[in-house]
Amino acid sequence: MELMEMFDATKPYTFTHGTVVAGVEWKSPIGTAAGTYNLDACSVYYNPAVIGAVSTKGVSPVPWEGNPAPRTAETPAGTVNSVGLQNPGVDHYLEDDLPRLKAMGATVVSNVAGHSDDDFAEVVAKLADSDADMLEINVSCPNVKSGTSVGKDPVALAKLLKRLRPLTDKPMIIKLTPNVDDVVPIARAAVDNGADAVSLINTFVGMRIDTRTGRPILANITGGVSGPAVHPMAVAMVYKIRQTFHDFPIIAMGGTFTGEDALEFLYAGANAVEVGSAALVDPAAPVRIACELEDLLDERPELAAALAEGNNWINIHDNKGEYRECIN
Ligand SMILES: Cc1cc2nc3c(=O)[nH]c(=O)nc-3n(C[C@H](O)[C@H](O)[C@H](O)COP(=O)(O)O)c2cc1C
Repeated sequence: MELMEMFDATKPYTFTHGTVVAGVEWKSPIGTAAGTYNLDACSVYYNPAVIGAVSTKGVSPVPWEGNPAPRTAETPAGTVNSVGLQNPGVDHYLEDDLPRLKAMGATVVSNVAGHSDDDFAEVVAKLADSDADMLEINVSCPNVKSGTSVGKDPVALAKLLKRLRPLTDKPMIIKLTPNVDDVVPIARAAVDNGADAVSLINTFVGMRIDTRTGRPILANITGGVSGPAVHPMAVAMVYKIRQTFHDFPIIAMGGTFTGEDALEFLYAGANAVEVGSAALVDPAAPVRIACELEDLLDERPELAAALAEGNNWINIHDNKGEYRECIN
């Protein structure tokens, strides 16, 4: 039997098709999604500087232990996790992961976690003078106390952004939850109150039950669903936001396992795509997907040129305002 040729992610790949997100140049439209990249584990597989950006694990003002185990369970097409934003805290991040990633030449998106506006403000203030390229405010984690309360309420999000905006000149991304009836009013609060981009989607609330015991598998009972199952919903949400905000930068994520999946997001109007769960199966997935997308963009010069200029597919075409929801 012929063995399948292994993808070698350690090669010094360079990409001709980059993107620009809120003024920040990414070498490829592909980055890593927060919480699914670990520097020590992943740098064995590839150099983080070759891809578009590395969005790092959410950091909080002090170390967080995360939720009790079991914290992950399989689903037919992805995982459900309730890690609960375990992290060693922003001071450790500033001394360790961030300088190491920057020394390797990576473009870094620092993901910010908090239980309250005070928490978010403390972390953003500490990152303001750092070498982080962009900040991503996670108002959409379904697995921690108050994790989505701001991200589901446009008024609360506006209040938080008004507090954070004066603290930093860095491009600020708001990470959106899919666990709302309509994502557009939340995106509007981000657009109107000083955010520089939105990223979506974070995970959908879900749970699994062990049929031998009749008990939930996760100690937290519910968790966040990610992976291929969520991809079509993520594409619809990206498209819907793009139909409303034609220019505003969008970073898409949710079930991207191939270059084709990423391309779908770009045709929905995203400026960049992040890879999460695929890297839990194959740590080198972000580089493989970046290579696949590079080939697809070679064949699509119009899309490649739009991305390189910080533009998006919807805006260069006359297909604005065509989003429709199924009416029952
Ligand atoms: C194990 C795990 C940990 C995550 N941690 C974070 C996090 O710290 N901050 C965040 O904003 N999103 C976090 N996420 C959400 C991902 O960044 C991403 O939005 C989501 O998984 C959808 O993308 P995917 O289907 O490609 O995984 C996490 C997801 C997983 C699976």
